[in-house]
Amino acid sequence: MTFDIGTPVNTALFVFILYSVQRIVFPSTSRPKEIPHEFRSGYSWLPKSHTPTVLFKSYTPKTLMPFNGIDNERILLAINGTVFDVTAGRNFYGPNGMYGNFAGRDASRGMAKQSFDVEMLTPVDQPLDKLTDLQPDEIENMKGWIEHFSNKYIVCGKLVENDAI
Ligand code: HEM
Ligand SMILES: *[C@@H]1O[C@H](CO)[C@@H](O)[C@H](O)[C@H]1NC(C)=O
Repeated sequence: MTFDIGTPVNTALFVFILYSVQRIVFPSTSRPKEIPHEFRSGYSWLPKSHTPTVLFKSYTPKTLMPFNGIDNERILLAINGTVFDVTAGRNFYGPNGMYGNFAGRDASRGMAKQSFDVEMLTPVDQPLDKLTDLQPDEIENMKGWIEHFSNKYIVCGKLVENDAI
């Protein structure tokens, strides 16, 4: 097979190759006048807004309470001193959720004893639940929940005594 520049297909390919090489050797230096925000208007190198960040911080029972899904979009709960952001589990912890009691609270005892009764909750103006009376199987159960929550949600803080901040 001989290369014949004269055939229409070869001419077209040749022109295309020339054009492609030209684009590589002399890349376009023109820039959009505005920073594109959407893919449609070109490559976007700046998102519309910064992605939400989660700040690891200390919560007390009192400062945790507003994150109960009623006063605040965010829902937090604590287990054994670790605060989890369970906003994604609104169906569980929202105002109509089966486990709504835990929202904004220290859920340790309930998780350990597998109960969402209100008696499991320590009043927010009281010292933290020390959990010293828990049985080994209850501690194991709580540990299992901590593992579940660690895999599913974001750890966003720790729970400390009301007078610790
Ligand atoms: C009436 C008996 C109960 C039923 C029918 C039930 C049912 C369920 C169901 C269907 C799920 C969803 C599982 C999933 O989609 O991953 C779930 C999750 C859960 N259950 Fe129960 N449950 C019951 C009792 C309890 C009790 C007594 C507790 C007390 C600690 C509890 C705590 C939880 C927690 C913490 C989750 C995980 C929610 C999450 O992933 O954020 N459940 N339950
Ligand atoms: C609960 O927290 C205490 C103190 O940080 C720790 O010593 C203990 O191992 C934790 N328990 C579980 C079940 O994770």
